[in-house]
Amino acid sequence: MSHATVTPLQSRKASALKGRIKVPGDKSMSHRSLMFGAIALGKTHVSGLLEAEDVINTANSMAALGAKVEKQPDNSWIIEGVGIGGLKSPQGDLDFGNSGTGVRLAMGLMASTPLTARCVGDASLSKRPMGRVTNPLSELGAKFDASEGNRLPLTLHGAKDAKPITYTLPMASAQVKSAVLLAGINTKGVTTVIEPVATRDHTERMLKAFGAKLEVKQVGTARHISIEGGHELKGQVIAVPGDPSSAAFPMVAALITPGSDIVIENIMLNPTRTGLIDTLIEMGGDIKIENRRLAGGEEVGDLHVKASSLKGITVPPDRAPSMIDEYPILGVAASFASGTTRMEGLEELRVKESDRLAAVEAGLKANGVETSSGKDWLEVKGGTAKGGGVVVTHMDHRIAMSFLVMGLASPTPTHVDDAAFIATSFPGFTSLMNGLGADMQPEAK
Ligand code: S3P
Repeated sequence: MSHATVTPLQSRKASALKGRIKVPGDKSMSHRSLMFGAIALGKTHVSGLLEAEDVINTANSMAALGAKVEKQPDNSWIIEGVGIGGLKSPQGDLDFGNSGTGVRLAMGLMASTPLTARCVGDASLSKRPMGRVTNPLSELGAKFDASEGNRLPLTLHGAKDAKPITYTLPMASAQVKSAVLLAGINTKGVTTVIEPVATRDHTERMLKAFGAKLEVKQVGTARHISIEGGHELKGQVIAVPGDPSSAAFPMVAALITPGSDIVIENIMLNPTRTGLIDTLIEMGGDIKIENRRLAGGEEVGDLHVKASSLKGITVPPDRAPSMIDEYPILGVAASFASGTTRMEGLEELRVKESDRLAAVEAGLKANGVETSSGKDWLEVKGGTAKGGGVVVTHMDHRIAMSFLVMGLASPTPTHVDDAAFIATSFPGFTSLMNGLGADMQPEAK
């Protein structure tokens, strides 16, 4: 998908945000619903699917590999799977746009089936490292012709007789864990991933629900996840709850905008995803979880958020995996807190849709915030946000949304150079925010 239209936006100081909203479906679960449905037998019915560019690219890729993927008149989606080993070489390139999750999980899905597929992505995705998945998948028997530095475009040749491996994750990455486990589904024998630090566990939960022979063992502080290959999956009915990583933006917006009182309904509260909520509560944020319930194997609840006086804290490195996508918006929250916030264990931020550590630091500085960083840490001095800066978003949706939120409580408006990439994860973001009382508008020409 191309972004021919660069969309500069500005965000002005707002009065109290008020209202009840829903945010779009969880991105991690949406990608997985489509992919697992594509290799299951029978139909998978998905409601609440995130219809954003990243996920639509995954849907198109699954269709190109032979699954039937159709949107229904009631906005739900039905995927008719091809069974394990049933994916076929696609006619053209598989275009994953901006999405690391899309391409890395799909590589795992394809790696143990004898097909050939060329994977491409946009300029941001083409800069991101793929060796982290091609290395373990090569051990399993897949072959890759990658661009320099193990990057996209890359042609995958799936293995005919994949060999099971035991793989210890060298970095805390749910994408890498998932890629290896997905390759294990069509690999005879037991494939094991050892995870020294727990990351989001949607793959494990959802594969089990699809009937995979998957076991998780806690061994000391590590998780050992094993999948016995060669067993078919069965289509499921999935209701995707709201994405906590999207809820993060209105949540912080309400905390920093005086007088605000909002409810964000039906948010997934899987404990591997709730690090930001814990952190903001520790900073003094008035966030109450209401109507806590179980839905489709996940905890969900409504977030009731009121404007609060935040105070700076140190966010420990072991919390990073449970809030890895939330540091840009935490950087914004921290700039309105009293005292200094220090965030540690951020090395993975360097290889996201942008180098997020550098992009957040630059965006904060552009808006008058005192901040400093090292290889894997960021410090933000609170109470210094002036606004007025133009933020370079580097094709990164979360950088764009974070600095639009900053404008709501800054003395002068904030500006982002391009908000088009918000469509990769959060279609309707600005209208939803404006409906709460924000003022996010295109820059005057
Ligand atoms: C995701 C895992 C994380 C996260 C990404 C979604 C997933 O990436 O940043 O937005 O759905 O598995 P890493 O696995 O690279 O940490």
